[in-house]
Amino acid sequence: MRRLLASSLLLLAACTRAPAAAARDASTLKAEAPLPECTLATPLVPGVPGSPGHLIPSELNPNGASELAALMRTMVADLEAGRAALEKGGTPPPLWSRHRKLRCAWPTDSADRNPQFDAMAVTYLAQVQALDAKPTHPRAAFNAVVTACQACHENSCPGPIERIVQLKVADAP
Ligand code: HEC
Repeated sequence: MRRLLASSLLLLAACTRAPAAAARDASTLKAEAPLPECTLATPLVPGVPGSPGHLIPSELNPNGASELAALMRTMVADLEAGRAALEKGGTPPPLWSRHRKLRCAWPTDSADRNPQFDAMAVTYLAQVQALDAKPTHPRAAFNAVVTACQACHENSCPGPIERIVQLKVADAP
């Protein structure tokens, strides 16, 4: 019991490592045509803020934040703003241009950028584009974005799930 508690505290502080080594096997990836958009095949640039050895000073984490962790915080703030806009009957601000780096940001643990992560990131960004396209049912489209956050976290990083679920917007009155 005590051990269980200790490990769930750890999960809150950081993500667990990707469980399956197989997930890191890039040979399972289909060859991708070169795209202007960033993909799993795009090499990450050493030395940028949030890369190994260049973590971003953070109030939340004394070790500093990776580029991906900092992007996640932007994503949380953007979704909070989007939810507030929807609740006032408005339109959420466009997200794709701000979140598109998801597939190419340095994670704290480099093993987290694996084919499984990338597939979830593709799904997430597709939901973001659907929301940006000003759909007929923006609340449903918004909640589909939140569900895509949740799906990736259930797979690889359970700590923030409770916080993510709270981002959902209630159905229109
Ligand atoms: C494709 C997978 C994926 C998606 C989609 C995703 N996340 Fe994450 N998230 C991660 C990973 C991996 C980390 C760990 C980042 C690190 O430590 O470098 C993380 C970290 C976080 C953190 C902790 C950041 C910190 O301060 O350390 C929060 C909060 C979070 N995500 C919320 C969200 C929200 C909200 C969404 C949707 C808007 C989302 N995530 C979408 C994979 C994902």
